[in-house]
Amino acid sequence: MSASAKIRVGLNGYGVIGKRVAAAVTRQDDMSLVGASEVVTDWRARMIIRNGFRLFGATSEAASAMRDAGLSVTGTLDDLLEQVDVIVDCTPKRIAAKNVELYRRRQLKFILQGGEKHATTGHSFVAESNYASALGRDATRVVSCNTTSVVRTLTALKRAGLLRRARGTLLRRATDPWESHESGIMNTLVPEPEIPSHQGPDAQTVDPDLDVVTMAVKVPETVAHLHYWSVQMTRKAGKDEVLDAFRRSSRIAPIRISDGLVALNSVKELMADRGRPHDNLYEVALWADMLRVQDDELFYAYMVDNQAIVIPETIDAIRALTGIVQDANESIAKTNASLCLEATLI
Ligand SMILES: NC(=O)c1ccc[n+]([C@@H]2O[C@H](COP(=O)([O-])OP(=O)(O)OC[C@H]3O[C@@H](n4cnc5c(N)ncnc54)[C@H](O)[C@@H]3O)[C@@H](O)[C@H]2O)c1
Repeated sequence: MSASAKIRVGLNGYGVIGKRVAAAVTRQDDMSLVGASEVVTDWRARMIIRNGFRLFGATSEAASAMRDAGLSVTGTLDDLLEQVDVIVDCTPKRIAAKNVELYRRRQLKFILQGGEKHATTGHSFVAESNYASALGRDATRVVSCNTTSVVRTLTALKRAGLLRRARGTLLRRATDPWESHESGIMNTLVPEPEIPSHQGPDAQTVDPDLDVVTMAVKVPETVAHLHYWSVQMTRKAGKDEVLDAFRRSSRIAPIRISDGLVALNSVKELMADRGRPHDNLYEVALWADMLRVQDDELFYAYMVDNQAIVIPETIDAIRALTGIVQDANESIAKTNASLCLEATLI
């Protein structure tokens, strides 16, 4: 692909992640969204058209049902795949894995999301860690929201030579807000049945050198995830040195309790006030004033907006697979500028 041509991106599954990816693609000067494929015929499909995108039915039956519902349908997923350089599959867990054969048969580059297993693509992606190893590949998997945050933060410590081992407890949101009428928990906390929880091993699919163990519990709220970490450093370090290490990542944003950012909802409100689409917090929001260092031990907590954190990663993954930008930092800077990420949130 020539450096001047725009990457033609197709989207399969316009849900929580898919609609945010679509909106982010339209903000890039080196890519365009050819269309979005769906199975639903209700308001969600209508929003694809209303947002200016071409609608495709994931199957001929879905396309017919959309037409019957009065929607303007351009074609089927097959038609969409003929017109794209990369397909980003944001269908629900385990459905995307079934599409892999279709994409491979067409020799199409494709990106899956964190609900799928590492083996489905053989490569798992977090831009700041392993952009280079995705260059020119046929496929990658953007890891889950929690795993993305783990790799971002531990990569920052590793790059500063501070990371020996990390142990984290993850408080996971119960469900996504728009699905709250269907599932979720109330008045209880539900521990994940196994230690380690899957996020630690998942982070090692991106960087096998990470010594990381995670434990997780589902909590009765829908705003975001909250992580607590205890890190054994390679040596004694001061708080400022640790904060500098985190600041060197453009996708970790220090926040402060003293600014009134005292909870998940206050950070989300700040994103709304900043005019971010969908109130997206793309960064790991890490409490700088709460962070503590005790000799060679480090303790900190941060917030992960599960609906938003993987969006910049997906944009970078598109550039990496197509090779249109060879340098990780260049792609990350382009993506950050387009989505208005800044060094500080307030
Ligand atoms: N929701 C999150 O917080 C989150 C965070 C990070 C990663 N992920 C991962 O992203 C992926 C998508 O999750 P989501 O939360 O956006 O799901 P979602 O259910 O919100 O959206 C999926 C969309 O795909 C559509 N769909 C279903 N079957 C389809 C098919 N066969 N063909 C085309 N479209 C189909 C659905 O109608 C829906 O609109 C999953 O792998 C998930 O694990 C989700």
